[in-house]
Amino acid sequence: MKPGDSLMKHYLQFKDLRAEEYAYLFERTREIKKRFKNYEKYQPLVDRTLAMIFEKASTRTRVSFEAGMYQMGGSVVHLTTGDTQLGRAEPVEDSARVISRMVDIVMIRTYEQAKLEAFAAHSRVPVINGLTNEYHPCQILADIFTFIEHRGAIHGKTVAWVGDGNNMAHTWLQAAEILGFKVHVSTPGGYEVDAAVAGVTDASCYRVFKDPLEACRGAHLVTTDVWTSMGYEAENDARLKAFADWCVDDRLMGVARGDALFMHCLPAHRGEEVAASVIDGPQSVVWDEAENRMHAQKALMEYLLLGRIG
Ligand code: CP
Ligand code: NVA
Repeated sequence: MKPGDSLMKHYLQFKDLRAEEYAYLFERTREIKKRFKNYEKYQPLVDRTLAMIFEKASTRTRVSFEAGMYQMGGSVVHLTTGDTQLGRAEPVEDSARVISRMVDIVMIRTYEQAKLEAFAAHSRVPVINGLTNEYHPCQILADIFTFIEHRGAIHGKTVAWVGDGNNMAHTWLQAAEILGFKVHVSTPGGYEVDAAVAGVTDASCYRVFKDPLEACRGAHLVTTDVWTSMGYEAENDARLKAFADWCVDDRLMGVARGDALFMHCLPAHRGEEVAASVIDGPQSVVWDEAENRMHAQKALMEYLLLGRIG
């Protein structure tokens, strides 16, 4: 794909790809991971450059994109608000025009989704959402791949979401609608998911529960996230009080299916949103989830830059 190609795709929200594209990406992720595990060199992106723009902190997203791009033969430019003109009010549209003339693909972690979309609208190259206040599609891509690895197809399954109605929750709802599973959501009052933000048109893809225990009953997967996301730190004290009953502990895991998995995008706070016995217990697949960020994003970058292989 060349810059400005009419077939150029961005990945700004989970719903930017269709179910059959996800089926393809999960298959490519499996293949790319297998090659990595076998120490097989696979370098389809020689001479390609990824720019990563971080306006918020990151461990997994940075390492997974950076290591993944180098493994595929490409290179990476790492930019932050503090050391670029982005932090000195250069318009995002101008930054997009400039950066996208010099690199082949861009990953952005920022605050408002609108800023990411403004960048994408002025970019000559594909743009990937590395987390915004509204969505975290790369994480859900890796999470669903992880579920498939452990349990097979997610279609028809039930995912319990316990905690904040945040970027992760909204992305799970989008994914449920596209891939045909159900999300049982339980959040404290005032922190509900917003169907308009999630952009779901079929309300049957999720169900809201007051009691987190009821949300977890019979679930195939139980998942949660921090009570205070990046950018919301000023609300931390109020959130600590409001979320006290939304901790995934053994009682909640006990009503899920016996073979239910536990996921958390990390970083985690043991004793807040998850008990140590759960995140460090036998049902937890959080380390696979983190590793799979890299394999899934390699498949995603390959797809956005080269289209379908073979
Ligand atoms: N899960 C995730 O996106 O982690 P980082 O914030 O460390 O990138
Ligand atoms: N919801 C969290 C996810 C961190 C990976 C945040 O936005 O901070």
